[in-house]
Amino acid sequence: MVNKCETAIVEWIRSAFSTAFGVEYDWEWLQVVPATDRKFGDFQCNDAMQAARTLRMAPRAIAERVTDALPRPEMLESVEVAGAGFINMTVNKEWLTEQLQEIAATDNFGIPNAGQGRTVIIDYSSPNVAKPMHIGHIRSTVIGCAVDRIYRALGYNVIADNHLGDWGTQFGILIMGYRHCLSEDERGNLSVELLERAYVESYNKTKDDESWLDACRAELVKLQRGDPENQAVWKRFIDISINEFDRIYRRLDVHFDLYRGESYYHEMLEETVRLLQEKSLAEVSEGALVVKLEDEALPLCIVRKSDGGFNYTTTDIATVRSRVEEFNPEKIIYVTDERQQLHFKQFFAVCRKLGYETCLEHLWFGLMRLPEGTFSTRQGNVIKLEALLDEAVSRALAIIENGERDIPVEERRALAEAIGIGAIKYADLSHDPQTMIVFTWEKALALEGNSGPYLQYAYARICSLLDKHAEQFGALDPLSGSVLLDSAVERELALKLMQFPGTVLRAAESYKPSVLAEYLFTLAQLYSRFYQSSPVLRSDEGLRKSRVKLCAMVATVLRDGLHLLGIRTPSRI
Ligand code: ARG
Repeated sequence: MVNKCETAIVEWIRSAFSTAFGVEYDWEWLQVVPATDRKFGDFQCNDAMQAARTLRMAPRAIAERVTDALPRPEMLESVEVAGAGFINMTVNKEWLTEQLQEIAATDNFGIPNAGQGRTVIIDYSSPNVAKPMHIGHIRSTVIGCAVDRIYRALGYNVIADNHLGDWGTQFGILIMGYRHCLSEDERGNLSVELLERAYVESYNKTKDDESWLDACRAELVKLQRGDPENQAVWKRFIDISINEFDRIYRRLDVHFDLYRGESYYHEMLEETVRLLQEKSLAEVSEGALVVKLEDEALPLCIVRKSDGGFNYTTTDIATVRSRVEEFNPEKIIYVTDERQQLHFKQFFAVCRKLGYETCLEHLWFGLMRLPEGTFSTRQGNVIKLEALLDEAVSRALAIIENGERDIPVEERRALAEAIGIGAIKYADLSHDPQTMIVFTWEKALALEGNSGPYLQYAYARICSLLDKHAEQFGALDPLSGSVLLDSAVERELALKLMQFPGTVLRAAESYKPSVLAEYLFTLAQLYSRFYQSSPVLRSDEGLRKSRVKLCAMVATVLRDGLHLLGIRTPSRI
């Protein structure tokens, strides 16, 4: 919690408890929460109830002793004991104003430099080559991108690595499909869609044509041995795939520092396995080389198959070695769906046995479903990611065209792209990653309610208010004059704004962009309560200036917060 306000109060409460009752107890667990009823203050501490058990005293007596133990800190205007032993605290208005101004004067609204340049690798999106990205990939890309931006904002040196599936047995099948199931014309105008078709046709042939299967194997061996012709077509498959993925990444505003697919590591596999053997971590079992993970209560994992081939696990172990040696990261975060949990647990355990100290985190997420069922490549009706984006954009376009404002045609298209894609991203990010999502258009595009468009509109409305203000009264110097916090809602808004830096930190530490999404939604709701009850342009000069400043701060936080989620914020909608 780097919320300056809460942190300072918590510190005071903890030292008040230890002054009153002694340092021999651990007081680190004490918490301060926003007051449930603002009539009684801004924050409250309810922990006297819990402490009563250890101290064998009535909670109210505890609370009274605590509040008398130390002088009240300057930042608190009042501290009162209420009811059975609640400690209610009201923040000093001048202090709050000052702190708010201080945060607002920074260029990132107070986000702390928690990373201090330390390196974190985030492995996300990572689709497989020669297959169109489908809706199953969306969560890895969207969540990964948000975590990436959040860590960067916190001052980490982030390396975004797209670990493409560009190596493996499927390439023998694909090469045969490419050569024999596509026309010359099609080979000349190759696309991911054609590659997928070639793969499926070739794959189907392997099922009832033994000689076809043999031929596929032979092509794979040739490729693995570096046959120039097979290497050339394989490279072409990769180039074409990346080209198409990049088109989607551009629309999603996602950027990678590295595109190191599985093939990048394939020459390191042999040595990785040798290392495991040298350290007596691997043993032969039924012809395969395995690492036993009994101590970790995990099933053993195979690092070399009985046919001598390496697998996904071997590659991931080699990848850690390579990443550690080259970048010495503090942490590697992997973003994939929940079905890969066992794989990650296993190879993380192997890496620990090998002595790697880098923190390895598997950020897994639940699947996204349409009400009709799961998206899966194995099912016939795969929804391609690009088709989903197109549909979102055309639905957003319809909403824009229904709106009041007359928007020039060229601008409309860009707006629809921002809103449609923002809606899809937010529908994903507003849920805890580790839950399944049932995606519906109605919810994702709702203009009222917890949606991307709702937040984008909230931001654009504030921008237009600020424009109007500038037109009528001229530009306001953001650093001059102070914010008056005379009404309850303004006070609440100020306290909420102060929570932004801590929320960003919490979202990073918990790997949950949803923490930030939820914060932005409550901020927008609070702002609309403020706006409904507090005239801005029609107020007297002092109040008007103060409120405009508050509005500008809300706009900044909405813009920066949405940006961290990878969502664009047009200033006019
Ligand atoms: N290509 C894999 C898939 O589509 C995801 C790779 C995740 N990253 C990793 N280092 N294993 O399922």
